[in-house]
Amino acid sequence: MKIHAILLLLLHGVTCFQRDYSNRLYYTVKTTNPNIAQLAATLDARYEGQVGELKQHHWISIPKSSPHITRRFHKRDMLLSPQIPSRHRLFKRAPPPPTAPVLENTEEEYKLNNQTPPLNLPLLTDTDGYTRIKTILNITDPGFDQQWHLLNRNEMGHDVNVTGVWSQGITGKNVIVAILDDGLDMDHPDLRANYFAEGSYDFNNHVKDPRPRLQDDTHGTRCAGEIAAVKNDICGLGVAYEAKVSGIRILSGEITEADEAAALNYAYQENHIYSCSWGPPDLGEVAEAPQGILLDAIQNGIDNGRNGTGSIYVFASGNGGANDDNCNFDGYTNSIFTITVGAVDKMGNHPYYSEKCAAQLVVTYSSGSGGYIYTTDVGENQCSERHGGTSAAAPLAAGVFALVLSVRPDLSWRDLQHLCVQSAIPISLDDDDWSVLPSGRQFNHKYGYGILDAYRIVELAKGFRSVRAQTHLSITSEIDVDNTPLSIQDITPVANTSIDPSTAFTSTLTMTKENVQKHGLSRLEHVTVTVNIEHQRRGDLEILVESPNGVSSQLGTPRKYDTSSDGLVNWTFMTVKHWEESPVGNWTLRVVDGRNPEYRGQFIDWTLTLWGESEIGFFMENKTEHEKNGTRKEPTQSFMDTTNEDEKEEGSFGLYGLVSVFMLFSLASTAYVVKKYMLGTHQYVKPTEEDTYEFDNLLTQEESDED
Ligand SMILES: *[C@@H]1O[C@H](CO)[C@@H](O)[C@H](O)[C@H]1NC(C)=O
Ligand SMILES: *[C@@H]1O[C@H](CO)[C@@H](O)[C@H](O)[C@H]1NC(C)=O
Ligand SMILES: *[C@@H]1O[C@H](CO)[C@@H](O)[C@H](O)[C@H]1NC(C)=O
Ligand SMILES: *[C@@H]1O[C@H](CO)[C@@H](O)[C@H](O)[C@H]1NC(C)=O
Ligand SMILES: *[C@@H]1O[C@H](CO)[C@@H](O)[C@H](O)[C@H]1NC(C)=O
Ligand SMILES: *[C@@H]1O[C@H](CO)[C@@H](O)[C@H](O)[C@H]1NC(C)=O
Ligand SMILES: *[C@@H]1O[C@H](CO)[C@@H](O)[C@H](O)[C@H]1NC(C)=O
Ligand SMILES: *[C@@H]1O[C@H](CO)[C@@H](O)[C@H](O)[C@H]1NC(C)=O
Repeated sequence: MKIHAILLLLLHGVTCFQRDYSNRLYYTVKTTNPNIAQLAATLDARYEGQVGELKQHHWISIPKSSPHITRRFHKRDMLLSPQIPSRHRLFKRAPPPPTAPVLENTEEEYKLNNQTPPLNLPLLTDTDGYTRIKTILNITDPGFDQQWHLLNRNEMGHDVNVTGVWSQGITGKNVIVAILDDGLDMDHPDLRANYFAEGSYDFNNHVKDPRPRLQDDTHGTRCAGEIAAVKNDICGLGVAYEAKVSGIRILSGEITEADEAAALNYAYQENHIYSCSWGPPDLGEVAEAPQGILLDAIQNGIDNGRNGTGSIYVFASGNGGANDDNCNFDGYTNSIFTITVGAVDKMGNHPYYSEKCAAQLVVTYSSGSGGYIYTTDVGENQCSERHGGTSAAAPLAAGVFALVLSVRPDLSWRDLQHLCVQSAIPISLDDDDWSVLPSGRQFNHKYGYGILDAYRIVELAKGFRSVRAQTHLSITSEIDVDNTPLSIQDITPVANTSIDPSTAFTSTLTMTKENVQKHGLSRLEHVTVTVNIEHQRRGDLEILVESPNGVSSQLGTPRKYDTSSDGLVNWTFMTVKHWEESPVGNWTLRVVDGRNPEYRGQFIDWTLTLWGESEIGFFMENKTEHEKNGTRKEPTQSFMDTTNEDEKEEGSFGLYGLVSVFMLFSLASTAYVVKKYMLGTHQYVKPTEEDTYEFDNLLTQEESDED
């Protein structure tokens, strides 16, 4: 027993066992059997350890000469999944080729003073505004002048609006962002001081140190620089220049699914945010989603990562725009658990490469219109002037989220999505895909809810009240009694007429008020639609879902290169467009087959799932039953647990309110100090609606006192 315990201790969570792919076959097995190590030994296999943070997944290896050993496991009803390292699963969202020459850098050298940050920054439009802002913020990085995404002097307003955040001393302190990529040059003077070794690992070479080793391992370092390049005299600076970055190397060679799963949870009590600028290929041909052990890893990160508040997964929407690719066909970006970020260029326009989809939450700046992202590069004092694509947008968003978490580390993965929805600013309003939603917000499949604004999201986060536990409910269409699928009528228009969507295939599901109440759904967040559709040429289809309020999400777009005859088997589309809509009424699925009349299809079924915030007290009343049924999703440690109890909530509001108002008064000699208090220490009281109200009043009072 003792030996077993020591063995387990040694092997627990260890993923760095030596692989011997030339002589051994590797598998994973999913089991709750605590004696899996002993069992493996009795079956002549070798137990290699738990897979990452997944307690039910284990590595097993057997000699290549004895493949029959796998049958011994199968006889015990243990399914072994082969783990074959593959090179062609994950693709960097590399910057697409330029469409226009780079604009020359016309910047002068500015003389700088060293001063402590004052309370107010001048406007860019003020005389010497730009120089004064740099001086006040003590920015001496020579490349800052090229970092228009941080402060744009030429196309004013087209930047992440971060200087007003930095001037409050909010720079990402105490937040760690892991870059899942092709390595990280931790010796670069721009990254050395912010490098977090304990959160880093190389899953390609199975060593601790994720340094770039191949010629083109520059992508991860560039992404890291965008987030946390140190404020110094080298290159530029990161949007959260006092955050820490970990490097998790997964894109430089072969990797198994089990190792990718371990990477997605690597050091997940230390790493807060995972910045992911990669995914399935962007050629517009495939519909690929993480399955099995990978889904388990993402769910595990959401349930248990960051001490139960949920790992923040940020994914680039993809660079396949020109190939008609769409981020609803990529299972990482299409997941409710990830924040999908697309790109806009320095003019605020949609670049040709950036993929659109209904799952896209926000956009931020990257290459296009001759602009690029200036950042750190691999090699002593090297800088890159050519970072771009949605690869560069996702890390910029991850850096902004680091600013948010440095102010409010208690926020959950869903809180962060709410903050994105509430703070994003619609952009390029002449684009015809913008629609005004019942919430009053606007959504566009190319821009999501709009552009991420660092100042707005941080200000909103300060007083944000955490959302309650997540609940969900599903309904499925009935399959025809004879089990005969319904034929999808092809409505390819005759020459020079347009498609009439009202003639397309439709199927309606009715969501009743009783059903919504039974599942305690009080506020709608994500909507997912799982479809089974057969088609001889998948790329011909456009798939839309229309809510009871007439809001239409484009789930699937026609894709010129998608010639697959696999159709859509249990494919789940996700949309954020129905956020906070009333869910009661008829939901209509439309399948438009408007191309290539020679290819036909049939409809089998669809399932509508609504996800959102639960009613006050819903999970408390039915807590044990939900735990038994496994329908309770939210981790036990989370902030929601206490807020779920109405009584407790009322009682503690008063006390928190009093305490915080007292503290605010005692510290608030100016409005600035109030803010500083909110941010500086990490012991502030979780704001409630009442607190926010008080806080706002106080600010107004202070400000008017000054006048
Ligand atoms: C940008 O930040 C400034 C503070 O630095 C703020 O006054 C302004 O409203 C922000 N811009 C937007 C569009 O919210
Ligand atoms: C300004 O930044 C430089 C590094 O670039 C640092 O050495 C110096 O101490 C800073 N000064 C102030 C006043 O923060
Ligand atoms: C989780 O809690 C532990 C102990 O309180 C702390 O050391 C660690 O930093 C926390 N991790 C995160 C991600 O908040
Ligand atoms: C269809 O439109 C094209 C150009 O828009 C035109 O050249 C052609 O004559 C039209 N054909 C018919 C049948 O109207
Ligand atoms: C689709 O998923 C459901 C539930 O996971 C499963 O029961 C069903 O067999 C799947 N259908 C196909 C065609 O794979
Ligand atoms: C909803 O759909 C049902 C069945 O398809 C139909 O009978 C009903 O009239 C619809 N309700 C509305 C408000 O459209
Ligand atoms: C608890 O569950 C029961 C039945 O499952 C349901 O009737 C009741 O409304 C639930 N409680 C709350 C607060 O929703
Ligand atoms: C738990 O499962 C049982 C049996 O399927 C069901 O009747 C009950 O409503 C479920 N309770 C909750 C709260 O989901």
